[in-house]
Amino acid sequence: PHAAGAFVNAANTDYTQAANRDKQRAALTACTAQLGKKWPLIINGKKITDRAYIPSVNPAKPSQIIGSWARATVADAESAVAASVAAFPKWRSTPIDDRARILERAADLMESRRLELNSLLILEAGKPWIEADGDISEAIDFCRFYAVEMRKLAKPVVTQSVPGERCVQTWTPRGVGVAIAPWNFPLAILTGLVVAPLVAGNCVIMKPAEQTSVIGAVLMDLLVESGVPAGVLHFVPGFGEDVGAHLVGHPQVDFVAFTGSRAVGCKIWETAGKTQPGQQTLKKVVCEMGGKNALVIDNDADLDEAIPAALYSAFGFSGQKCSALSRLIVLDEVYDHFIERFVSACGSYPIGDPAQPGTILGPVIDADAQKKILGIIEQGKKEAKLAFQGTAPAEGYFVPATVFVNVKPEHSIAREEIFGPVVAVLRAKNLDEAFALVNGTDYALTGGLFSRSPKALERAQNEMLVGNLYLNRACTGAIVERHPFGGFKMSGGGTKAGGKGYLENFLFPRSVAENV
Ligand code: NAD
Ligand code: ALA
Repeated sequence: PHAAGAFVNAANTDYTQAANRDKQRAALTACTAQLGKKWPLIINGKKITDRAYIPSVNPAKPSQIIGSWARATVADAESAVAASVAAFPKWRSTPIDDRARILERAADLMESRRLELNSLLILEAGKPWIEADGDISEAIDFCRFYAVEMRKLAKPVVTQSVPGERCVQTWTPRGVGVAIAPWNFPLAILTGLVVAPLVAGNCVIMKPAEQTSVIGAVLMDLLVESGVPAGVLHFVPGFGEDVGAHLVGHPQVDFVAFTGSRAVGCKIWETAGKTQPGQQTLKKVVCEMGGKNALVIDNDADLDEAIPAALYSAFGFSGQKCSALSRLIVLDEVYDHFIERFVSACGSYPIGDPAQPGTILGPVIDADAQKKILGIIEQGKKEAKLAFQGTAPAEGYFVPATVFVNVKPEHSIAREEIFGPVVAVLRAKNLDEAFALVNGTDYALTGGLFSRSPKALERAQNEMLVGNLYLNRACTGAIVERHPFGGFKMSGGGTKAGGKGYLENFLFPRSVAENV
């Protein structure tokens, strides 16, 4: 039982039930039959169709076109900003409960269209079934969680009780913002970056990733159907370097909600920090970036738990999660035994078409990613010892699961984010050395320790400096509210998606004192 108005996480689909597998297959067939549509821009409630269209393809079968999206121009970005500025005063004064209910309707619509949306994630992003299903659950959770949290913020908080004065703190929205999203959680992250500022009373310009803009278009339609008014939300797909960069630097854009790579995030942080002529507000940047995540395997770790957790953290969605395991740091005494077991388990994940229910390793997102990761693997062969490499289908953008051992901390495979199914194994003499290795990169996103020693687990909490620390479990799969998600150092600015306090990023605090 849950208290009225409390947040409850959405349940994933139980694909162990044959009936659910049949329904998902049928949804995939129906979705495939409808591929190839053209998706226009939507600015100020109007569809703009006469733009160049960019095809989006299935990374597992690049000849299959999922749909084409209209490429927004800089002039379109300007129109979206102007319409947002005009719509802001009304949206800002729309009752919070009305705004929260729009998010709840969106969540209900996503739930009712779950298998259809899963199909699109499988086809456009190459997500295996359970990954697509988890992505939808997270999107639903963001809507419901932020609705609940915004209702809490609606209540003024008494700052101090004194006779003769009523003193409260309240919140007011920032204004106009742009949500710039990555392709790897094409529904969940895009939804979170859009609905959090929206429910807080801001107008939002949605800029999905190029690779998954059809999913962005479907989300836009769904939010409009849920009741987001024209002028408050705009669908402006386009290229990051032109339309994205223009919006970030725009003097009337008050905040940027970004998730993506370190290189782009740092550029956005810098651009947003330069005050432009005519700018009236200091820009706020919510900036979530990459990781170089490590799991430490202590000498007394339960390997029956650690090995499947490490496998899934490294190779789930082909390592294309910012949370994915990229460095395995194994203590000396258990090293040889662990490597023997881990490497022999690495071939157990089926690789292939994510439209098949058994697939765990699907393709990587596009040809550029495939080329980049294969290049890193070649570099890794020069630096360390290749201990495992799986096979990969010839058609599609596949990269085989790959494990390197004898990796040294200075090797590039131990330092740079790879964003593919590649693991570097490092050896540590003891926990001191292991924790120093964990903290020895530029990133601080996820990390974990497998140990049976309470002392070691306690030390990890103090000494493993990452945003999301996981003890005796996998280091991916954060759940909204339970595991507020986000890192620091070059992993991000310290914000926590799906956590209490997140909405405050899109609001200004105000203090009101009344002489009574
Ligand atoms: P990316 O940085 O290449 O692109 C992200 C978005 O930024 C896209 O919409 C892109 O069009 C836009 N963009 C590109 N150049 C821009 C510019 N100059 N100005 C404004 N916008 C610009 O990242 P990606 O390849 O889509 O995503 C993968 C990266 O995202 C990985 O590094 C991953 O670790 C990270 N990520 C982080 C988190 C997290 O929560 N920390 C979650 C998911 C992904
Ligand atoms: N939030 C995602 C995870 O935890 C990235 O895996």
